Amino acid sequence: MWTASVAPAATSWLPEAWAQRWKERLAKAPAVELDALHYWDVIGLGTGVMAPLTGFMNRTTVQAVLESWRLDSGAVFPLPITLPVPPEVSRQARAPVVGLVYQGKTVAAMSVEDVFWLEPEEEAKAVYGTLDPQHPGVRQTLGQSPVRLAGAVTLLEPLPGPVAPIWTPAAMRAALKERGWRTVAAFQTRNPLHRAHEYLHKVVLEWVDGLVLHPLVGATKSDDVPVEVRWRVYQALLEEYYPQERVLLSGYPVAMRYAGPREAVFHAITRRNYGFTHFIVGRDHAGVGNYYPPDAAHKALARFTPSELGIAIIAGEQAFFCRRCQAMASSRTCPHDPGWREHLSGTRVRTALARGESLPPHLIRPEVQAILRRYYQSLAPVDGG
Ligand code: ADX
Repeated sequence: MWTASVAPAATSWLPEAWAQRWKERLAKAPAVELDALHYWDVIGLGTGVMAPLTGFMNRTTVQAVLESWRLDSGAVFPLPITLPVPPEVSRQARAPVVGLVYQGKTVAAMSVEDVFWLEPEEEAKAVYGTLDPQHPGVRQTLGQSPVRLAGAVTLLEPLPGPVAPIWTPAAMRAALKERGWRTVAAFQTRNPLHRAHEYLHKVVLEWVDGLVLHPLVGATKSDDVPVEVRWRVYQALLEEYYPQERVLLSGYPVAMRYAGPREAVFHAITRRNYGFTHFIVGRDHAGVGNYYPPDAAHKALARFTPSELGIAIIAGEQAFFCRRCQAMASSRTCPHDPGWREHLSGTRVRTALARGESLPPHLIRPEVQAILRRYYQSLAPVDGG
């Protein structure tokens, strides 16, 4: 029987000899240091997750993306994927090839095709719809250099692991084919799972062949629950509450931007690349704080046809626990007065458990609560007295 937790990590990209030859060539080339977000972009570009994109965008492409959520070819692509570099690095980086270095290791080679200027304010306003520095994506973008390098990347190192096994799009397509699943819904999350998430999964599992739990494993903001802890949550839930032969768990190797509607479209088209037929988008997908209306992602996705996206969207309404129904429900299924509803969100779960409060099992499974409680206790300041 297939167990959801044994997805093999992808290993090398290039035959060892080729990677070695690249590394020798890069020994004399300039090096560009990556931060966490751009490291994950390199992984996304190098593994086909961001197809048709294979490298960091040039100025013309960025312009098209910011204005029309599309590449020059017309293909839907809502987020600019650029590589900011300090101005002094850009002078050396006029070399044809540079090494991309993360945490002391040359993880990829980049063929430099263009060096251009992109104002962080212009980028932030277009992507996030705000310049408020409280927004984590805006803060990250405004802190970037306006000098950008464009060009194709070649991965030279295996994917990170083994906490969260990551399948490439090609490996996932093969796995889906092997299972004979014709309809496959993917679920994005950056949070531990609560019962509203589980409700969406179970509703969808009633009519698709398979569900892929596809949690984001790239960089997230510092108060999000780290991937090692979340992974234990996913495994515990899958073991106990899901039909194992119909569910797969695999990491989605991209960083979070918290760009709400634009990121929801990005999450959908990149899931298409894995061969998933459906993508679940619920309330305030990829949102943070109150920057985006709860249905902003649904509206943004509705501007494109399923064939333009290459994947069908399952738009989930806000799910809640109705005390009258004594069940999870949404306004599409529950006739009762809103006064009966208990709402939950990742933020509510984080805040309650971080304060040491407990939540009832109809909002969060006891197994999940136990894992998160241990995690928050480990963070609690040690009494120095
Ligand atoms: S996200 O940043 O990855 O979107 P989160 O992990 O909280 O955040 O959400 C994962 C998915 O579940 C998203 O599609 C989101 O819209 C959906 N979701 C989260 N909470 C609810 C809820 N209470 N009702 C409906 N959908 C929800």
